[in-house]
Amino acid sequence: MVDQAFRAAADERPSVPASEKDANMNDILAVRTSESPQRAASPGEANETLLSVRDATIQFPAPKGRKGAVVTAVKNVSIDIRRAEKFVILGPSGCGKSTLLTAMGGFIPLSGGAIELEGRPVRKPSMQTVMVFQDFFQLLPWKTVRANVEFALRQRWPRMPRGERRERAEHFVDLVGLSPQLNQYPHTLSGGQKQRCAIARAFSVSPEVLLMDEPFGALDAINRERMQGELNRIWEEGRPTIVFVTHDVTEAVHLGHRIMVMTEGPGQIRRLLDNPHVGMLPYDTQGQESVAELREMLIPAG
Ligand SMILES: Nc1ncnc2c1ncn2[C@@H]1O[C@H](COP(=O)(O)OP(=O)(O)OP(=O)(O)O)[C@@H](O)[C@H]1O
Ligand SMILES: [Mg+2]
Repeated sequence: MVDQAFRAAADERPSVPASEKDANMNDILAVRTSESPQRAASPGEANETLLSVRDATIQFPAPKGRKGAVVTAVKNVSIDIRRAEKFVILGPSGCGKSTLLTAMGGFIPLSGGAIELEGRPVRKPSMQTVMVFQDFFQLLPWKTVRANVEFALRQRWPRMPRGERRERAEHFVDLVGLSPQLNQYPHTLSGGQKQRCAIARAFSVSPEVLLMDEPFGALDAINRERMQGELNRIWEEGRPTIVFVTHDVTEAVHLGHRIMVMTEGPGQIRRLLDNPHVGMLPYDTQGQESVAELREMLIPAG
């Protein structure tokens, strides 16, 4: 049965009967979330909502077809992301994860509903939020690895002394294992190296909200584990709010205080789970069960 291992370590909420699972998951989850904010797995100060998504629907013009036809990428999603939590969005390819995350960052508009950061509508990107995109083209091509990070630091703290900026940039480049490529330009980097540079840049500016779209997807297994460890460590230090998109179940269980599983497109919430195994590797039996249960949820219906 689904979500036994997750439920076991969460609070004593009643489980959701199977018949309700597909009926109106948004409503069920909204009630469960607001009624019982104290969870074993969530950080203590994380009960305050920082980023609120209300009934969000996102549509795009259909690539082909009649005029006015649309593709619905995200449908009626409501979630409250708490301050200082690591919130993972998990779902199959094409289910709307990137679309939802991009809207949270204010990069694309909603077709319906609302997104608020600290009670204020998110309508455009802000300095409070930093996003690591899924693609490899997010670096300034005319700047070296170090200069890309320094550029972000200058935007964030214009009066930071030059020496301090350089030192901070080097520190974060080192953190992601890119010191040997410090003075290289993006076109000379591999996909994974570019991604690590973008991650260094994001970490370096200590954002309040870090939106990460499959940031470790292009990394080899060793670097991936290393970056997951760094992410947990950086979170421990500054406790930023992190919304992390992945389709890797083990990564979701390793990183997320809570895990939102999305349905196949158009993306809706399938389950919202507390995760008591966050930060733990290797997993005990229950952790392994959680991974297996999540996998089960991702298997397409039919
Ligand atoms: N700009 C766009 N115009 C039209 N359709 C789009 C656009 N962006 C995304 N879509 C569609 O919206 C749906 C969701 O896309 P999205 O990129 O959010 O998926 P995803 O869950 O991030 O997938 P993946 O795991 O492969 O990255 C897809 O069907 C996609 O084709
Ligand atoms: Mg995506």
